[in-house]
Amino acid sequence: MDGGAEGVLSGMGSYRIAAIPADGIGPEVIGAGLRVLEALQATDPSLRLDVEHFDWGSDYYRKHGLMMPADGLEQLRPFDAIYFGAVGDREIPDHVTLWGLRLVICQGFDQYANVRPTRVLRGLESPLRACGPGDLDWVIVRENSEGEYAGMGGRAHRGHPIEVGTEVAVFTRAGVERIIRFAFDLARTRPRKLLTVVTKSNAQRHGMVLWDDVAAEVAREYPDVTMERELVDAMTARMVMKPRSIDVVVATNLHADILSDLAAALAGSLGIAPTANLDPTRRYPSMFEPIHGSAFDITGKGVANPIGSFWTAAMMLDHLGERANAARLMDAIEAVTAAGIRSPDLGGTARTDEVTAAVCEALAA
Ligand code: IPM
Ligand code: MG
Repeated sequence: MDGGAEGVLSGMGSYRIAAIPADGIGPEVIGAGLRVLEALQATDPSLRLDVEHFDWGSDYYRKHGLMMPADGLEQLRPFDAIYFGAVGDREIPDHVTLWGLRLVICQGFDQYANVRPTRVLRGLESPLRACGPGDLDWVIVRENSEGEYAGMGGRAHRGHPIEVGTEVAVFTRAGVERIIRFAFDLARTRPRKLLTVVTKSNAQRHGMVLWDDVAAEVAREYPDVTMERELVDAMTARMVMKPRSIDVVVATNLHADILSDLAAALAGSLGIAPTANLDPTRRYPSMFEPIHGSAFDITGKGVANPIGSFWTAAMMLDHLGERANAARLMDAIEAVTAAGIRSPDLGGTARTDEVTAAVCEALAA
């Protein structure tokens, strides 16, 4: 599921997982995900997930003035994977919470490939007219280490009328090449073998033209994959008007951030969308999280959709080499969506617990 770019650690059976539920509905959906993973282990005794919990996040910040301890990365380093909830708090600025936890982990562990599969799960509907199950089946590959999120820039003349803020997008040949190569490898594993490279190289003539140049060079090594280019604005229209024409998409950190929210909404809800922050070289642990974020409006109400967290757990299993268990979990998730058990974001009335129990039952069946 997360592509052919990596080696596979299959058959080891036993894995150390760091759970960081963090903020908002994170604890609810990660709790639900861990229940489902327990149910999965109950049906496969060779699978053992040794889960350790970390109470990092905004509450930790209120107590300690940091989102995670100074040696947080060292603590996480020995784990096989990180299962992450959400970060963001009403009282603490977003850039503080994000740069204090999630982005430090992504960048510290060089998780340069952010993989976001999107499809309409069985029983769910796209808000697009005439878009059935197989019609929207995409993987968005997001560059996750540089670009618009490189953290370069600054502010000067604070508070004065001449105040200036710069946010510099950074594109390196090495960074662009590795993500494009990852996307080609992934496209190669899919039946359609179609890769759309998204940029804005008509208006941004430096970094974005570097993307185009590198894509053309790398494409020569993949004669079996069809590569095409699309501008990001045109891509939004194409996603809505011609969903069937898209397979694998690769784009910059910010462009793919935006496209992936649109993709999740077109597949039915942000509540189902998963993501993997991968270090494809496997030097460091990779991190798996649902896309939806903290969702303050429903925090603590027991109605969060746990499907994004379950699908994320399936991606984590897949990355660990547990392909069959990942597939079994996806089947159980889709048995539940197909049976019409839906949380409020999908137009239903099922609570987090009910969706979770239904997936556990489907696994045991
Ligand atoms: C996402 C989110 C994050 C991002 C936010 C919370 C910083 O929108 O994972 O898509 O932009 O990376
Ligand atoms: Mg986003």
